[in-house]
Amino acid sequence: MVTPAELTAVPLPDELAHIAVARLAYDRLTDLPAAAAANLTVAEFAEWERISHPGRRAEWLAARLCLKSLIRQRTGRNDPRTLHVAKNGRGRPQVVIDGPAAQRYGDCSLTHAAPWAAAAWTDRPTVRLGVDVERISDRLQRVAGSFVAADDVALVPRAPLEQLTVWWCLKEACSKVWGLGLGAGLQEIACRETSPGRHELRRAQGPVLAGWHWRFDGFVMALCLGDASADSEGHQAQR
Ligand SMILES: CC(C)(COP(=O)(O)OP(=O)(O)OC[C@H]1O[C@@H](n2cnc3c(N)ncnc32)[C@H](O)[C@@H]1OP(=O)(O)O)[C@@H](O)C(=O)NCCC(=O)NCCS
Repeated sequence: MVTPAELTAVPLPDELAHIAVARLAYDRLTDLPAAAAANLTVAEFAEWERISHPGRRAEWLAARLCLKSLIRQRTGRNDPRTLHVAKNGRGRPQVVIDGPAAQRYGDCSLTHAAPWAAAAWTDRPTVRLGVDVERISDRLQRVAGSFVAADDVALVPRAPLEQLTVWWCLKEACSKVWGLGLGAGLQEIACRETSPGRHELRRAQGPVLAGWHWRFDGFVMALCLGDASADSEGHQAQR
């Protein structure tokens, strides 16, 4: 398990008391195989061993260490090998209590942007989460036309690259709530900042999702929340 010093809990407003978010600098992890053996279920360990790219191995593991440490801090559950991060058919992760019954345990979301991995978790089964982290850089300038919408509204003046990164992270986090992955159509999501760092996100006539963003060390992190009817199964049913 990672030490409390390696895990940075993200302070959240009171209205998010049912949510926990943390980030982990994975370049500080020294013995990845030992961390994997101590924290992953047998099936997760086998999946991790099949990843060949070293950077991908590190971020994949770090995201799960971050999530399981967060759950331990929050609940006192101290055997990470009883919690399995499973994926649905579109790649959306969920925590299940390992065993024949595979009982779902709240809702979670994962993200990574070197050197950071981050996770969000809630024990509320009706909440759907999405979290995203991105470095502020000119990378998004080239693809801005594919995700910025004419009705995106910012309340606070920001440097253009920072603003692009805020919208990108919020919309990615929103697509993770829905679980739609590449099918989300980020430009179809309108993002309206309602107070500094607090947003409402909406796609067509769909339900409004709540969003928050934070800036740290040249990165932006965003969190979006919806309810169970907003994930891919519920969302498909509404279209
Ligand atoms: C799925 C997606 C949201 C992941 O985002 P990303 O920026 O590539 O990567 P991140 O590090 O932020 O997130 C990766 C995590 O997302 C999660 N994820 C993958 N598919 C997901 C889905 N359908 N729903 C929710 N979460 C998903 C996984 O847990 C993954 O981590 P893991 O591989 O360690 O398990 C993204 O790939 C995507 O499809 N985005 C839409 C992009 C788009 O529309 N682009 C067009 C303009 S360029």
